[in-house]
Amino acid sequence: MSIESLSERAAELRSALHEHIYRYNVLSDPIITDAEYDALLNELREIETEHPELITPDSPTQRVGSDLSSDLPKVQHPRSILSLSNAYSEADIRAWRQRIGRLLPEDAQLEYVVEPKFDGLTVVLAYENGILVNAATRGNGEVGDDVTPNARTIRTVPLRIPAASSGPDAPARLVVRGEVLFLKQDFQALNTRMREEGLTLFANARNTASGALKQKDARITAERPLTMYCYNIVVADGAVPDTQWKTLQYLRELGFLTADEVIRCFDNLDDTIEYALGYAEHRHDLTYEIDGLVIKVNSLATADELGVVGKDPRGAVAYKFPAEEATTKLRDVVWNVGRTGVLTPTAVLDPVPIGGVIVKQASLHNYDLIASKDIRLGDSVVVKRSGDVIPYVVGPVLPARTGEEVPVALPEVCPVCGSPVARDEDEVALYCTNPACPERIARNVEYFVSRGALDIDGLGERGVRLLLDLGLIHDEADIFYIKPDDLLPLEGFGEKRAANLMTSIERAKHRPLARLIAALGIRGVGSTTAEDLVEHFHSLDALAAASVKDLVGVDGVGPRTAQSLAEWFAEPRNKALIEKLRAAGVELVDTSAKPVNDSDKLAGMTFVLTGTLPSLTRTEASEIIQRNGGKVTDSVSKKTSYVVAGDAPGSKLDKAQKLGISILDEAALLELVNGE
Ligand code: IVH
Repeated sequence: MSIESLSERAAELRSALHEHIYRYNVLSDPIITDAEYDALLNELREIETEHPELITPDSPTQRVGSDLSSDLPKVQHPRSILSLSNAYSEADIRAWRQRIGRLLPEDAQLEYVVEPKFDGLTVVLAYENGILVNAATRGNGEVGDDVTPNARTIRTVPLRIPAASSGPDAPARLVVRGEVLFLKQDFQALNTRMREEGLTLFANARNTASGALKQKDARITAERPLTMYCYNIVVADGAVPDTQWKTLQYLRELGFLTADEVIRCFDNLDDTIEYALGYAEHRHDLTYEIDGLVIKVNSLATADELGVVGKDPRGAVAYKFPAEEATTKLRDVVWNVGRTGVLTPTAVLDPVPIGGVIVKQASLHNYDLIASKDIRLGDSVVVKRSGDVIPYVVGPVLPARTGEEVPVALPEVCPVCGSPVARDEDEVALYCTNPACPERIARNVEYFVSRGALDIDGLGERGVRLLLDLGLIHDEADIFYIKPDDLLPLEGFGEKRAANLMTSIERAKHRPLARLIAALGIRGVGSTTAEDLVEHFHSLDALAAASVKDLVGVDGVGPRTAQSLAEWFAEPRNKALIEKLRAAGVELVDTSAKPVNDSDKLAGMTFVLTGTLPSLTRTEASEIIQRNGGKVTDSVSKKTSYVVAGDAPGSKLDKAQKLGISILDEAALLELVNGE
């Protein structure tokens, strides 16, 4: 390429990168993946390395990465806090090995340590005479924000080392590097709390961790349960291990948290690569987010000799997992009707492989997202598929627009029943206004019988659709009027299956009232709210008679849920439904509070339950045992009278057999209770 075209290309790359940096950092709305961004940056870097005269002061390559805040004290790092170069494929990893091979003796045999690449933020901890004296963020790599009081709130940051008296002596001064993050469950719990308090949810765990760590008031940090994993010694006064593998072990012995479940050491590159590439499919099994693995030369002396390019040490490389995002064309939007009538849009896409799966459809969440992101038919869209999450559309690639794209038309009528569509108060959702919409009914019945609701075993989505299609049921209550003769002619229903289903239906009449209320699928009423309502009203009739004012007086019920409850009970269809339930003999009052002792046949006996019983749930079996005077405990011991075992029993069964304890199946348990 001529110097002119190189110069032109460099200018093109610079302006593209500036736009992407802005979209990522300011708008939080990136339109390319990290890998695509890195490829552009690397191309620019290569041109500039060959032709330094083409470097401009505004080139993105000249920016020193910094996350410094203006209002926190600063800490000078004892050594540069380096970054890592990236690899996206086996070829990239082999190229890294070749590059460093040129700087090593020809026959150098290297060992490699593989570690998780934590998706958190770097924190540097300094200890003097075993006491934590300061904690700082990476900042610009030379100077970081002082976050000492905040880091002290993190339980996995030892305040003194060794944390256990059995640990090794700590050097007089030790500076350790690691990553602060949220465990997935902690982040979820934080958001659950935010939701309960009516506050805005946090979108991104990494940014939330960063925000939490930089709070000026450490009490706020303390309310955000952060975790810190450590992986590196920055400097030490005193003897420290000479390999990365031993460093990790040493850090663990001193009391730091290390990622033991992932870390491996290999004596050759092939095994290292096999492990790293294969790990991608396990990434979501971990309790924290990782975006790749880091491969490090095990010998710290060798790593040191290899030196640094820019800010990246040559002795390590970050292997980034295959992108979970791809770009494809949006061809159509179809609307599905949910149980509460809400219409949810699904994107129909040109098939595209993401992470080894061909994606043809993706969620568009709600109508509001389409409008706010201005997603149009014919757009190139970024689609993300991450772990078990249903693929979803991130947004359109605006620069790819040709002008041919057309806005997504909002449905004016329900695609199933043709009734008018309305918008909810927030204007986020569209919904079908017809409570008798056949799709809504089908979804409601499916929900009514599902596991979390009335748990009618043997009746799944297909069974429900079949019964509705054949006109054997028309609503939820009709389930209780099904006769064995209705079922026998149906495909797949033999005598036995029909009899089992009849037993499950009979049992469902006596579920706790809170389960029934939750099963009705009233907007805003999940199992917790249903329990709160039962505690307050004790019967479905009392709940049905309650005014909005009565309802908001119940703990855990907000004005919206109160309104939706009142509306639900005012609906004629629902009034009729309740009467049908009553006539069928469904329990509409709370019986759980009554002290019951049906017999004392099991008095003095201790039971342990294991495995899945054919018809009773674990709670029901426990209840039967307790109502008859028995006790249920969790673990098998010599004191256990019986172990009740179902399908796929756990180790409790083995233990019972070893101890010679009598084993019962469900029938034998019922026999014990009902027998003479
Ligand atoms: S080693 C000389 N190891 O990834 C040490 N970094 O993309 C260089 N990171 O800035 C870093 N997990 O914040 C290292 N196991 C790990 C890591 C890790 C996450 C972060 C670190 C670094 C960034 C580079």
